[in-house]
Amino acid sequence: MGMIANEALLKPVKLGAWHLRNRVVMAPMTRCFADDITGVVGEDVVEYYRKRAEDGIGLIITEGIIISPRAKGTIGVPGLYSKDQIEGWRRVTDAVHKAGGTIIAQLWHVGRLTHHEIAGGLPPQAPSAIAAKGHVHRFGKPFEKPEEMSISDIHEVIDQFALAARHAMLAGFDGVEVHGAHGYLIDQFNSDISNHRKDGYGGSLRQRLTFMKEVLQGVVQEVGAERTSIRFSALKDDQPDYMWDNPVMSIKEFLNLFRELDLSVIHPSTNHFNAKIDQGKTLHEIVQENWEGSIIGVGNLTPAKASHAIKKGTINLAAFGRPLLANSDFINKLVHGKQLTPYDSKHLSSLF
Ligand SMILES: Cc1cc2nc3c(=O)[nH]c(=O)nc-3n(C[C@H](O)[C@H](O)[C@H](O)COP(=O)(O)O)c2cc1C
Repeated sequence: MGMIANEALLKPVKLGAWHLRNRVVMAPMTRCFADDITGVVGEDVVEYYRKRAEDGIGLIITEGIIISPRAKGTIGVPGLYSKDQIEGWRRVTDAVHKAGGTIIAQLWHVGRLTHHEIAGGLPPQAPSAIAAKGHVHRFGKPFEKPEEMSISDIHEVIDQFALAARHAMLAGFDGVEVHGAHGYLIDQFNSDISNHRKDGYGGSLRQRLTFMKEVLQGVVQEVGAERTSIRFSALKDDQPDYMWDNPVMSIKEFLNLFRELDLSVIHPSTNHFNAKIDQGKTLHEIVQENWEGSIIGVGNLTPAKASHAIKKGTINLAAFGRPLLANSDFINKLVHGKQLTPYDSKHLSSLF
């Protein structure tokens, strides 16, 4: 029963360079279980990802992994800038591969959504010196006014993204996802709320996307376009209800850029997969009409909703976040038609 209802979701698929067992993607989820000082992951994190691979998840996207100490926006976030961090991740990728899984590293810089006490003692960096409203996750202090990045800061961060991508491959990952979504550094450049620059990195949307383009170019040079996924969104952690003024036009600008870079895997993010955002269409419907490559859907999906959207051709794969925190045996339950455990915030307090 379960198997037939979820048939579309459980079919193998080729995505970029990856041959996946099925179309279920583990959405990237920050868990805060790395060593807070060293940013190294331990055996508990190895076991957490290994279990999902053993269950049969098609593609695992890791939690956001910071590219430098200054990229850090909360406590216990892992990194990919030191030798020990690379070795820690190597144990994760080995365990996932042994269990037949595919795993990519999400590369992350939070920009202004942090505080110097978290971000290596340095002021947060951002396109413009405009503070976000809100408080640092788990740490509780208000977001600080960031330092406006100079051109040399921008080049340094682009190089750090590229180096982290190289480290991801050294750590045995199958590729990377660039976190260009949710109001973090790349999205701060993309948005006119946080980017008031007068140089080539500011101005029209097309101009504001320059930073994302150069980060992607740096990353693609290291790992190849067929091993690079990009996550983007209107949604921002500090402004969950933000929407572009003209969603269809904005989305087309993003897609033109991804096309120029020859990307084949994109991951448009929303918390509400079914929400209509423009011309009576959802985010993923607008993307699908304007994109010929693969699309990962996400946003409060159920297996039934996801299977329907895959059958309709709106998306090619479906990412699940909270359901995978609550169910380490998600695939097993789908195959056997068993009830999923509903997500509860208590699931955040341990890795299981
Ligand atoms: C605990 C938690 C941590 C998250 N951390 C990240 C992250 O590091 N990077 C990211 O792109 N999205 C992150 N997200 C968003 C998820 O990837 C996903 O888009 C969101 O949870 C919606 O999917 P869902 O409705 O299936 O949970 C996080 C979500 C949760 C619940």
